[in-house]
Parts: sequence; C-alpha cells; structure tokens
Amino acid sequence: MAGVNPYQHSAPIAPASTPFRVTLRGLAKVIAVNPQDLPYGRDGKAGSLLDILMHNGVRVDHACGGICSCSTCHVIVRAGGRSCSPADDSEEDMLDTAVGLTPQSRLACQCVPDGSEDIEVEIPAWNRNQVSEDDF
Ligand code: FES
Repeated sequence: MAGVNPYQHSAPIAPASTPFRVTLRGLAKVIAVNPQDLPYGRDGKAGSLLDILMHNGVRVDHACGGICSCSTCHVIVRAGGRSCSPADDSEEDMLDTAVGLTPQSRLACQCVPDGSEDIEVEIPAWNRNQVSEDDF
C-alpha cells in the first residue's frame, strides 16, 4: 500500500542512480538493486528501503502504509547510512516512538539510499516474525 501523508511536506527525493546492494544482517540475504528498476513504487517513498525490501520478498511491517505515521517499519542501518537521505523532522518525531531506538535507526519507508554505498540493514528482533522466512 502506498500513499501520502497530507501533514508531511518534505521535498521529493530521487531514488538511487547507481547499483548497490542491501545486506540483511542476520538473515543471510543480499539484495542487488538495479537503479533502472527503481522505484518499485509499492511501499513508502519511491526507492526507499521499505520499497526495496518489500519488492524483494522481505515483508517488513508497515502499519501506516509507508506515510510516516507509525514506527512499525523501524530498521537499523548498520552500514552505508551516509548514502541515505537524511531523516526529516517528521521521521525523527515518529522514530521517537520506536522501541529499541539506536543512533542508526531509520524508518524504512522514509529512508532513500542514493546508491553511492552498499547498505547493511538490521531488522529489529521484535519485528523479525513479520519477515518472510520462505524467501531465504
Ligand atoms: S510504515 Fe509507518 S512510518 Fe513507515
């Protein structure tokens, strides 16, 4: 499900323009992202981590549909965070409600990598039962 939060007024962010990989820490899965395929346009901001994960069979919970109105898509970007769009005030406010917040925490629906680095993502343990194990 995709949508728009009418109370959020952030500038659009261009999806990645170079190939990169997303490694899921602890799940032995690596996703090769081809920028020509982006955005998948299903979930969260175009080209967001949520968009990439969901398209590749990693079903991360996203109760609000990817419009920055919950914190269920909380992920931890363990490496490659500098290549991700900065968190805006709306994302920071929602992250404040996330369980297990870390300095590398992001909302997957709002975090858009630019492709300049590979990304390593950790899905918090309490959310792992939402992730499909069938695809690994
Ligand atoms: S899915 Fe609700 S904030 Fe990301």
